[in-house]
Amino acid sequence: MEIKIFDTPDAVAPACADEFTSLLSSKDYCILGLATGASPVPTYRELIKRFNAGVISFKHASSFNLDEYVGLPRSDKNSYYTFMHENLFNSVDINEKNVHILNGNAEDTEKECADYDAAIDAAGGIDIQLLGIGTNGHIGFNEPSDAFSDGTFKVKLTDSTVQSNSIYFTESAMPRYALTMGINSIMKAKKIVLIATGTSKAEAIKNAVKGEVTPRCPASVLQKHPNCIFFLDRAAASLL
Ligand code: F6R
Repeated sequence: MEIKIFDTPDAVAPACADEFTSLLSSKDYCILGLATGASPVPTYRELIKRFNAGVISFKHASSFNLDEYVGLPRSDKNSYYTFMHENLFNSVDINEKNVHILNGNAEDTEKECADYDAAIDAAGGIDIQLLGIGTNGHIGFNEPSDAFSDGTFKVKLTDSTVQSNSIYFTESAMPRYALTMGINSIMKAKKIVLIATGTSKAEAIKNAVKGEVTPRCPASVLQKHPNCIFFLDRAAASLL
């Protein structure tokens, strides 16, 4: 695992965007693994800037997102489908048919999850997987637990996640489940880039980088990935 530390949060995005830029510029067709949340937004902004400047194109790329809520209409302002379109896809030239986001309204969620992993494999696997990290060390919706998950699966949201979501949803509309790529699906990516900024992430980063590899801190599994870079600001790296 390689650790890159930047003086400010603003310096993280261009460096992380460089990873995508070199991949998009060097490969005929790229498979991108993408994340939602606050951490990747500056990187998406930087990628949009580079697209507008003619430096990169997403015409020859497919994307697979990490996760999606169960039971939320895609058009809901809080769905990850909406998030990705507002923060990246609507502003670049990716072909909508190459965008893959788990369908949280699928009737058969087991089939939806199995088909998703199969589609990633059929596409040749993810070239670069972007991740954020939860303050408890989660990646995707893989929360601390007794065992590392395998493929994409349906997960019950923890009380703390439901609690942090309560600012976005009314009680009746609050999602209780999500579909998420599993740890094994994430670990199959050829390259992984994780972004963390701010002191709230410092403890999780310490456990992920220096702690034992344990499903109690899901991100610690990344120590075993052969090609993984953490992009951190000084605050997130302050306990290393
Ligand atoms: C997002 C995701 C989550 C977030 C994590 C950090 O698709 O899967 O694991 O990456 O919760 O969220 P932020 O970046 O908002 O701190």
